[in-house]
Amino acid sequence: MSSTEQRLQDLRNRKARSEAGGGQARVDAQHNRGKMTARERMEMLLDEGSFQEIDALVEHRCRDFNMDTNIIPGDGVVTGHGTINGREVFAFAQDFTVYGGSLGEMHGLKICKVLDMALKTGRPVIGMNDSGGARIQEGVASLGSYAEIFFRNVRASGVVPQISVIMGPCAGGAVYSPAITDFVIMVDQTAHMFITGPEVIKTVTNEVVSFEDLGGAMTHGSKSGVSHFTASDDEGAIMLARELTDLLPQNNLERPPDKKTSDPIDRSCDALDSIIPDVASKPYDVVDVISEILDDGAFLEVQADWAQNIVIGFGHLGSHTVGVVANQPKVLAGCLDIDASDKAARFVRFCDAFNIPIITLEDVPGFLPGTNQEWGGIIRHGAKLLYAFAEATVPKLTVILRKAYGGAYDVMSSKHIRGDYNVAWPTGELAVMGADGAVEIIHKRRIAHARNAEQERARLTEDFNEKFANPYKAAALGYLDDVIEPNETRRRLARALEMLLDKEELRPARKHGNIPL
Ligand code: HXC
Repeated sequence: MSSTEQRLQDLRNRKARSEAGGGQARVDAQHNRGKMTARERMEMLLDEGSFQEIDALVEHRCRDFNMDTNIIPGDGVVTGHGTINGREVFAFAQDFTVYGGSLGEMHGLKICKVLDMALKTGRPVIGMNDSGGARIQEGVASLGSYAEIFFRNVRASGVVPQISVIMGPCAGGAVYSPAITDFVIMVDQTAHMFITGPEVIKTVTNEVVSFEDLGGAMTHGSKSGVSHFTASDDEGAIMLARELTDLLPQNNLERPPDKKTSDPIDRSCDALDSIIPDVASKPYDVVDVISEILDDGAFLEVQADWAQNIVIGFGHLGSHTVGVVANQPKVLAGCLDIDASDKAARFVRFCDAFNIPIITLEDVPGFLPGTNQEWGGIIRHGAKLLYAFAEATVPKLTVILRKAYGGAYDVMSSKHIRGDYNVAWPTGELAVMGADGAVEIIHKRRIAHARNAEQERARLTEDFNEKFANPYKAAALGYLDDVIEPNETRRRLARALEMLLDKEELRPARKHGNIPL
């Protein structure tokens, strides 16, 4: 063999060692748990043949605990770039077969390199996490690398989309990288996120809890709001990451890509004419309204199982990506509470950061009353939603479907906080509060002194409803741009969106605002 051939063979051997990861036995163990390997995940995420690996030959520098006799090139994380439906992205996948995917100094710096390159080139980053956390043998060096990652996640926030797919353990401070990224996708049963595990919790608080109950996909999808999507397996999670990436711009200087549709923008939404029940207290499913309006009825709901009194998600209108925020009358009558405010506020800020127009569908009786809410800081949390809508300069289109009461009217992208296009259906009710409550307050004495209190109350309530439970006072003041027939909602919104796409709106220069966190 010539020396050139030897060198070539040496390179091939090194690459093969890197590709083999922790060896066949550990790969089999990974498969037996229903998990794919890091490389399989990377191949599935990216278009066929598009993956270009970076840093396959990086090695750790740890000399303690005999680590110098156990060096696997690549150091437990596969990193690089490739395309998703032809658009370039950066990605990394932790390799649980190598030191349990634990993050040491060099493993961490590989992730940092990908984040740096993504920021430099304005490309999204997708991270696939499957790791035992900080590599214990490397001590503070691994903590240092974690913090370097956190810093870059923060620096990239609002500049390039960042998506985390959790496909195994993600424990301790390690959770803070995904938490800072824009979207967290968790795989049911195999993904677990927590700050302290069941053992520590038992020791400190005496609580007994399983991994799954503590930090599984269902928990974070429905209780904590940490995760945005739950997938039943690795493949489902990866497909979700691809779908999400398709909707988003590459960075904050671009608009999201259009998605061509054959659904006519002037399609009449006839079903919407009868969707609002005759009885005001009766619910309906606002997701039906959203699907009727959007192109091809396609709606990707985000955080579908958490704070269900508000619905958020993405779709297209007239081929443009839009974000939708909608009160859900089916849950808590669509009241705004702490979690709903947090959920929608973060979503509005994401859309604003990435030039995604926001469509708000409003049917809200107000903020949820109660000591739980007040002591939990509904004032502070509700303010976030108000702040987010007011701060957003993307096109903002609002349709009042039914109730728009009290402070919630102002908060939900009203004209006054710079909604660009605000309309109501004829069923809209814009008032300080519902007729029942209002009559009790302003006609308290009158009712008390009436010969027949019940009759008087009913008459006054009807009178109030007639005068105020409609959209025409607001339309007369110009707070609404129009009152429209429900069937024309798609056409009117699509036309308004076209008109608003080139909108420019500036805010005073400042370091950053002080959103009430
Ligand atoms: C080094 C680790 C490791 C770690 C796992 N391994 N975690 N090596 N550092 N943190 C290794 C194991 O030694 C083992 O090596 C292989 O990975 C697989 O681990 P197993 O325990 O056999 O797998 P499993 O039974 O599936 O359990 C997975 C696990 C468990 C739940 C993740 O390994 C575990 O509890 N690990 C420790 C988790 C932890 O406490 N990490 C620190 C958290 S604090 P071999 O050679 O046998 O295959 C933290 C702080 C971050 O991360 C702070 C950021 C600011």
